Amino acid sequence: MQITLRVNGREDRHEVEPRTLLVQFLRERLRLTGTHVGCETSLCGACTVLARVLTRRAALDAIARAKGSR
Ligand code: FES
Repeated sequence: MQITLRVNGREDRHEVEPRTLLVQFLRERLRLTGTHVGCETSLCGACTVLARVLTRRAALDAIARAKGSR
């Protein structure tokens, strides 16, 4: 699937597998290694990212759920 994301002010289209975790996408595709994986159970907050005005647990969310996020 194709998604368009604006990350740190830059908007790009990406071809992704729908089940790719947001944290995998940020770290591996965009090389944004400030997002970490800790507990993978939504307890530690290491994977927290801001998506619009919401926070998300990037180690738990598929990239498809971030579609259209900034
Ligand atoms: S890895 Fe711990 S909350 Fe995401």
